[in-house]
This record gives sequence, structure tokens and C-alpha cells, in this order.
Amino acid sequence: MSVVQKDLKTSQDCNHPKEVTSASMKKYIFLCILCVLTLVPLYVWLIGYSSPAVSLSDNSEQRNVTILLWHWTAERVRAISQNMCWERFNIPHCKVMMQEALYMKADVVVFHNLELSTGRLKLPLELPRPPGQRWAWMSIQSPDNNGRLLGEYGGVFNLTVNYRRDADVSIPYGGFVPREFGDPVDDIPMEKTDLVCWVVSHYKDSFRRSQVYEELNAVIPVKVYGRWSNNPLEPNDLLPTISRCYFYLAFENSIAKDYITEKLWINSYQSGAVPVVLGPPVEEYKAVAPPYSFIHVDEFASVKELAEYLQELAGDAKRYGEYMQWKRDWKVQPSINKEWRLCQICLRYPSFPPHKVYTDLAAWDKAT
Ligand SMILES: *[C@@H]1O[C@H](CO)[C@@H](O)[C@H](O)[C@H]1NC(C)=O
Repeated sequence: MSVVQKDLKTSQDCNHPKEVTSASMKKYIFLCILCVLTLVPLYVWLIGYSSPAVSLSDNSEQRNVTILLWHWTAERVRAISQNMCWERFNIPHCKVMMQEALYMKADVVVFHNLELSTGRLKLPLELPRPPGQRWAWMSIQSPDNNGRLLGEYGGVFNLTVNYRRDADVSIPYGGFVPREFGDPVDDIPMEKTDLVCWVVSHYKDSFRRSQVYEELNAVIPVKVYGRWSNNPLEPNDLLPTISRCYFYLAFENSIAKDYITEKLWINSYQSGAVPVVLGPPVEEYKAVAPPYSFIHVDEFASVKELAEYLQELAGDAKRYGEYMQWKRDWKVQPSINKEWRLCQICLRYPSFPPHKVYTDLAAWDKAT
């Protein structure tokens, strides 16, 4: 701005004739017009140039985004604070509320699929929707466990809040973040007593993971904990127990796009056992985890070959150690709490498309 003002003063300078004759008058008028013709575009250009800075400062006074949790049961969200996103995660301009009466003011109304699928909650389809309000469908279950996504859900939701990477608000069960200078390096538990461990509570013969387990256990010993084997672990004993195993079977109960759960992020990575994974295709693991941080069942022609590979690794400290190298550069961040998931809605809010409707939610959910 100051540049512009200085230039405008110069334009006054050219209006300083000492002796004004009618001939020189014309000359001055001509010069002044020339001055104006040069300076006006310069002025416009400078104003245009400085305007991004002006709009940036406007953005910093961004209004709050209001998120309404529709009929969330008390056990689902215990006494949440309206400002929890700021208090807990430093995410600003975000209000999370549960009072139905605030419906007309909400920017996003969040429906939890579990409540919908159990019939405990009905969509308030009769309510008029304030302009700009978005309805969000939230689920962290695999499609097999989402129940039937009824036809009445078509054309209702504007957003998906889901562990999938292609959801509008992606809330994966965990992820890797670069290790920062000064972060403590995890101890690598090397006192191993068991080759392969598995914790399982739901066992069905039809699950693919059950078949792989049976085949594996026929070749190498697999130590099984959990309800199914009548060998349950106390929550506090879970990680110390798994840490004594070379490998942990991070086998998902459903095979679905991007469905990679705490079995990987917590049970394996946080215990220090190398995960043997069964779930979505290996590419989907590679998209979220560094190489040599997991072993995928599908990378072997047979379960027998997998078993041989695991035995070899356990007997070769150097090669086994390669599966711990990622700890130098990365740390794992499991994200299992509801508060964090909800606050991600505010974080993503500015990038939501201006208009989006899920006409066939069931098709989206079942996509591979
Ligand atoms: C949200 O979905 C409703 C229902 O289909 C639609 O009328 C509305 O325009 C959508 N809003 C946005 C912001 O996409």
C-alpha cells in the first residue's frame, strides 16, 4: 500500500507548472493524462496483488463448525466437552454437541451406523434440512457387520466417515507418523519364547483366517490365547504376552477394502512381534505401512511356505531384525478413540465438496 501512495504523490508532482501558458498547459494536461494512464493500472495491479494477504487474515476469523451427534447413547460418548477438539487435539473452530434442539444450527449431523442397524435409531427424515447442512454416515465396522443398509438410506447422506482411505472423512484404525528427533526409541523385545501367537475370540470354520490358522498350526506351533481357546488374557497382559512371540497373527475377521484394525496397529506393532497379516490385498497394507514391517499371507504360494519362512526368520537374528528397522524412522499411532474420530470431521470440513449425495450407500460400502 505504501508503494502505491508514494506513486500517487509523484502523480501530483507532475501538476506543478511554474509558468502556465496555454501551450504548455496542453503539454501538462497531456503529461498528466499519461501519468494517470500509467498509474491506474499499476495501482490496480498492486491492489490485486495484495488481496490474497487480505483474504488470509479474514480466514483466521473462521466461524465454528458445529457437529451434532444424533441420538448417541451415553455409553458411546461419555460426557464430551463441546470444545474437546481444541482441548484434546488442538483442532480449532469445532463444536461437538448432542442436544437435538440444536439441529437447525448444525453444519454436520452424524449418524452412527451401529445405532441405525440395531434399530435403536431412526433417521429423522421428516425434519426439514437447513441449507448447507450435511448428514454424515459413520461406521468403523466392516461391511459384513454393518447390517443391511436399507434403501431408505439412499440419497440421504452427504458424507461418509469411515476407516476407508476414500471416505470423505477417513478415520483409519491407525497409521505411521515419521519419528521426530528426540522421540524415544522403543525397545525391541528380543526375549522370545514362542514362534507364533494368536489372540482370537470369534472362531468360525468359514472364516478364511481359521483355515489359514489350521494349516499353519499343522506345520509349526501356534500359541493361541483368547476366549475361543479358553485362554483369555487380561487387557494388561495382552501386549507383554505377545511381545514374547516372534510373530503375531494379525488376521482380520472380515476381508474388506482398507479394513486393517487394531490387530495390526496395537496388538502387533505396539507389542514388538512381527505381524503376519491376513486381510485386504497386500497393496492396501503397503499403502499404509512401510516395507519390512509386516508379512502378508498372500505373498506365499502356500501356507506351508509361509511356515518355512517364519521358521527361517526366527532362527536368523539379522534377517528378523530387518523387520524392526522401520522403528528408526517411524512410529505407530493407533487411533481408537471416538473423540479423535469425530474431530476429524472438523479438520476435513473445509475440503468437503460443495454438493455430494450418496445415492446408493450399500454399493459404496460394499465397494472393493
Ligand atoms: C445433502 O443431501 C441432501 C439430500 O439428498 C441434499 O438435498 C443436499 O443438497 C445435500 N447437501 C450437500 C451440501 O451436499
